[in-house]
Order: sequence, then structure tokens, then C-alpha cells
Amino acid sequence: MDENIVWHNYAVDKAHRSEQKRHKPCVLWFTGYSGSGKSTVAGALESALHQQGVHTYLLDGDNVRHGLCKDLGFSDEDRVENIRRVGELSKLMADAGLVVLTAFISPFQAERDMVRSLLDDGEFIEVFLDTPLDVCEQRDPKGLYKKARAGEIKHFTGIDSDYQAPVNPEVTLDTSKNSLSDSVEQLVAYLKTRNIIG
Ligand code: ADX
Repeated sequence: MDENIVWHNYAVDKAHRSEQKRHKPCVLWFTGYSGSGKSTVAGALESALHQQGVHTYLLDGDNVRHGLCKDLGFSDEDRVENIRRVGELSKLMADAGLVVLTAFISPFQAERDMVRSLLDDGEFIEVFLDTPLDVCEQRDPKGLYKKARAGEIKHFTGIDSDYQAPVNPEVTLDTSKNSLSDSVEQLVAYLKTRNIIG
């Protein structure tokens, strides 16, 4: 960090923005295998929150990799950088007062912990999509597991790249057992218990 770059505090801060929006900011960090239901649950939750007047933004791995992270691949190093960038972006969005939903495999505990450490206490909500790998592979919505098994894609999570399950997630969901509406209800209830939304 350049010693000549000094942080500037402005008069309007996170608390002011939160007051205006009548809900608190947070980052709902969905993690799990490809095909585990991260984007589907995050999207359905976002629709439910939006209907209630909550100001949301959803960051999705496949979409972010078309722009902000289009220079990154799937080596461990690139995944670390992917999550670092998205973590910083989520922090800015939370500072803007939003309820941020992120859907990234984010396979490493250290990077998820790093994002947690960027945010204020209680703002980072780790949502573990604990859908078994064989179910994700059976779903194979993008045909990528098939390609990975055929050796056409290297470093595919769950096949020849590691996934570290969360140690202490705030919420655990298994989309092979819970319906989509149950998952959304569980998350909305969590946000209410934490007084993030009314
Ligand atoms: S992460 O590991 O860096 O968090 P991210 O969520 O951004 O991954 O991207 C995962 C998505 O990229 C998957 O849902 C899948 O569609 C696609 N993808 C392409 N190649 C791979 C790969 N080798 N491993 C995992 N996902 C891949």
C-alpha cells in the first residue's frame, strides 16, 4: 500500500444509508458445488426480498466472469483472486447499504473467512449449499460435469479440484431435500431473526 494514499471519510456513511433504506446491509454468501442450487436459491430469495422493498444486488460467478473477472481461470490461484475481488466488491455494496447475494463456488475456507473479516460483525452470512456431489453431477445443468469426466475440462470442482465445506456456516441448505420455497423461507426467517429486514 502506497503511504501517500490516505483514507478519506465522508459525511454520509453506511449507517445513514441503512437508515434511509429501512433495512440493514449484509452479504449472503452462497457456497457449494456447481449445480448445488446457489444461483437458483439466491435468485428466488432476491425476488422475495425485492417484493418486500429490500434493496438487493446479486453477484453471480458465471456473470462476473464475463466482466470484472474475465481474465481469471480455475487454477487455485485464480479462484483466490476471483473471491478477493468479489469480496471487496461485496464490501463496497454493503457499504452502499445493499443486501448483497453472492453465488460463487468459493471452494476455500480461507478465502470465505477473508471476506468475513472484511465486513462488520454479523454482516457476513455464509450459506452452505450442502447438496451432495452426486446429485449436482446428475443435474449437470450446463453439461460441465460430463466434460470434466471426459477430461475436456481440467480443475473442475469436485472432480479434480478441491471443495472445502464450511466449518461453521450460518445457514445450511440441501436442495435435494428442501424445496425452493422452503429454502427461501428459511433464509427470510434468518434475516428477520437477525433484524436485518423487518
Ligand atoms: S470459483 O471457484 O472461483 O468460486 P465461480 O463460482 O466463479 O468459481 O465459477 C464457477 C462456474 O464456472 C461454475 O458454475 C461453472 O459453470 C463454470 N466453470 C467452468 N469451468 C469450471 C471449473 N473448472 N470448475 C468449476 N466451475 C467451472
